[in-house]
Amino acid sequence: MKALVLAGGAGTRLRPITHTFAKQLVPVANKPVLFYALEAIAAAGITEAGIVVGDTAGEIRRAVGDGSRFGLRVTYLPQDRPRGLAHAVLVARDFLGDDDFVMYLGDVLVGAGITELVDAFRRQRPDAMLLLARVDDPGAFGVAELDGDTGRVTGLEEKPLLPKSDQAIAGVYAFSAGIHQAVRSLVPSGRGELEITEAVQWLIDRGRDVGSLPVRGFWKDTGNISDILEANRLALESVEPRTDGAVDTESRIVGRVRIAPGAKVCRSRIVGPAVIGPHASVVDAYVGPYTSLAEHTSVTGSGIEYSIMLSGASLDGVHRVEASLIGHDAEVTPAPRVPAAHRLFLGDHSKVQICS
Ligand code: DAU
Repeated sequence: MKALVLAGGAGTRLRPITHTFAKQLVPVANKPVLFYALEAIAAAGITEAGIVVGDTAGEIRRAVGDGSRFGLRVTYLPQDRPRGLAHAVLVARDFLGDDDFVMYLGDVLVGAGITELVDAFRRQRPDAMLLLARVDDPGAFGVAELDGDTGRVTGLEEKPLLPKSDQAIAGVYAFSAGIHQAVRSLVPSGRGELEITEAVQWLIDRGRDVGSLPVRGFWKDTGNISDILEANRLALESVEPRTDGAVDTESRIVGRVRIAPGAKVCRSRIVGPAVIGPHASVVDAYVGPYTSLAEHTSVTGSGIEYSIMLSGASLDGVHRVEASLIGHDAEVTPAPRVPAAHRLFLGDHSKVQICS
């Protein structure tokens, strides 16, 4: 069995972060979302993975390399434009050959991994098997209708206006080689994409066996900022507390906090779950629950919680930051004098909420 990981696409909902950055590399609990997928694939016993890449190919290659550190052999599969999830299967045709494969959307986080799906697929040998998650807003996803007794999928719709169930397609699929014929039969959908949902519906219409499995543990599509913060919260829940950096005697560390080598914490209070990355500095500061500070970040005379700071970002003298994603090397400081107005220097598509 092989794996096909989708790491192309545009990331429009995560701008401005994704102007300069692949959305699959946004870190949760200081680890890129894509790495969770690659680890889950290796843990399921798969050794060969194809990664579909688009405009951000260079960055993905730099981050993942040849895959050996995940125990994988990685092949990169360029896609000229994000023409749809089923188009990615077309692009991967030679790589996949006639092998069974798991298709894993690179911006989806599945807390319990995919071993159960892979094992069930190998045991039952259906034509396709989908991981499903119950959601409150099914219209934002592909939605499955199920035969209640068997868990077989009887119908699928992509982002329907009137969803027929609350079962969302979670973004991990297992396929046998029959999917290639289905994919070849597609024409672009209303939004101009070749939809994998339609390819699976093609199988259902021909009486093929399409099974499903409910997601266990947490699951998140990290498509927008609030989902990323939630994913970060969920991933931090299982952080093992550990201090490798330097913490002075005037600081207090409470709960599950991981402090990486080279980090320093002085006269500060950190309340977990939280992770403090390599060479981060926390001085005269408060870092509250569900916060991830990446490498070389600094928080000085400031407070932050339920937030993510990407590498090199800094907060200096800022009273309290919450529910925020602060980009690479971004600086947040107070105005030098009592301001008559806010002073902003923001990238395109930035979103800022200020008290005024
Ligand atoms: O998150 C689960 C949902 O993922 C499913 O419920 C939907 O049925 C499925 O269509 C998909 O919807 P999204 O709108 O979330 O898909 P998105 O465009 O975000 O793409 C998912 C991943 O695949 C993302 O990492 C980018 C990558 N991608 C996407 C397209 C369209 C590619 O590599 N190539 C592409 O052409």
